[in-house]
Amino acid sequence: MKLPIITERLILRKLVPEDLDDMFLLDSNPDVVKYVGIKPLTKKEESAKVIDNIISQYENNGTGRLAVIEKETNQFIGWSGIKLLTEEVNGFKNVYELGYRFLPGFWGKGYATESAKASLDLGFNQLNADKIYAYADIENQTSNYILTKLGFENKGTFLDKGDHCYWYELEKNNRK
Ligand SMILES: CC(C)(COP(=O)(O)OP(=O)(O)OC[C@H]1O[C@@H](n2cnc3c(N)ncnc32)[C@H](O)[C@@H]1OP(=O)(O)O)[C@@H](O)C(=O)NCCC(=O)NCCS
Repeated sequence: MKLPIITERLILRKLVPEDLDDMFLLDSNPDVVKYVGIKPLTKKEESAKVIDNIISQYENNGTGRLAVIEKETNQFIGWSGIKLLTEEVNGFKNVYELGYRFLPGFWGKGYATESAKASLDLGFNQLNADKIYAYADIENQTSNYILTKLGFENKGTFLDKGDHCYWYELEKNNRK
């Protein structure tokens, strides 16, 4: 990965152990994790494990979620990026998947869309993916709206750890 990625308003860089407090703030917030299939984290050690795991993904898979920094304030606002799904989801394994997650104070500014576009550039142009996949809880209206807006095709529902989700696929030429 050629990093950092600099967009109009954001910087995408690798997560580092020093992001611990910010990552805990993110994943301990019930509004943030409402549709992502986990309970709010209660211990910082859990966030430390998440960061370690993402750092190993950079090493083992050449990609993983990236910290997103708001240029104007230099603040950590969340993450976005392409993960290699090494555990099967909806029957798919070893495929690239787009994801994003932000602190509520930064919602509604177009940051998910802006960072997703940068992540898709990375996936298609640096990782040379043919297709990029995504999934979202069927009740997560904002995320489902964003994925559709980016050109993702809704391939129907599946059950992910008890949650009804939509599965999406995007081919490079169908990007919007
Ligand atoms: C989902 C999430 C990433 C969106 O981030 P964001 O930066 O607010 O998203 P954006 O501002 O780029 O785009 C939001 C779009 O959804 C639209 N929107 C907002 N609420 C909506 C709703 N209830 N139904 C439909 N569209 C909605 C907005 O109008 C905007 O569209 P526009 O850019 O065309 O005006 C953010 O809310 C979040 O981090 N949620 C918690 C984690 C999560 O659910 N991650 C996704 C898991 S699949």
